[in-house]
Amino acid sequence: MNALDVVLWVVAPYLAITVFVLGHVWRYRYDKFGWTTRSSQMYESRLLRIGSPLFHFGILVVLLGHIGGLVIPKSWTEAAGVSEEAYHITAVVLGTVAGVATLGGLAILIYRRRTVGPVFTATTRNDKLMYAVLALVIVLGLAATIAANVVGGGYDYRTTISPWFRSIFYLQPDPALMAGAPPLFQLHALSALLLFAIWPFTRLVHMLTAPVGYLTRPYVVYRSRDDQRGSRKPRRGWEPTR
Ligand code: HEM
Repeated sequence: MNALDVVLWVVAPYLAITVFVLGHVWRYRYDKFGWTTRSSQMYESRLLRIGSPLFHFGILVVLLGHIGGLVIPKSWTEAAGVSEEAYHITAVVLGTVAGVATLGGLAILIYRRRTVGPVFTATTRNDKLMYAVLALVIVLGLAATIAANVVGGGYDYRTTISPWFRSIFYLQPDPALMAGAPPLFQLHALSALLLFAIWPFTRLVHMLTAPVGYLTRPYVVYRSRDDQRGSRKPRRGWEPTR
């Protein structure tokens, strides 16, 4: 293990986590009204209706898979009676299907963003960077899975990458665990750290919030202009415009 390993597997993850947390606090305090998905549904909905659920359901399964594979220790699943083989097969099949769905969904969303005029016009430089990094993370994750566990001989990341991931949160970082991981997994983890660092400054902030207030907020009442406005004269400056 050398100094570079400490930079990549200790300094970089803590830096990414710090920027992720403080960035969200900053964004919420200074750009509360910009905290949005910046939905483009009103410009186009045919492609969105396919791409968006494919991407979002796919990424949800990928997220659950990462919790199962990175957060839950191997000893726990084994104690619960899940053999290494059963875990491996489930993870590879589910992970590959979910990964392909996520990537397919993202491809549709990016194609739509580029080809539908008004959606492209509403795409900022910030969006373009975010889509590029997001696609990179997903492509590398899928490539690592396929290379190591679909066509390759099998790589048990639950003895290296997973304990490294947890060691960051225990505040006892162990870079040696990651230093020997296959390069595709290393690149996948590094690209994910980059994604976490830009996250608070992009439209991805919408992931952490839901418009729960909509359930209980008062109605917005729309009234058409009425020809019969009553007999009272309008106040000065409030005269109707037509
Ligand atoms: C530091 C954070 C991360 C680590 C350590 C990590 C680690 C891993 C590992 C070990 C796999 C292989 C899973 C398997 O073969 O069963 C994987 C796959 C994958 N990862 Fe990550 N990952 C991270 C963050 C992310 C993020 C943020 C995304 C998406 C935005 C992502 C998307 C994927 C995808 C699409 C796959 C392939 C299919 C799948 O397993 O579902 N990963 N990742």
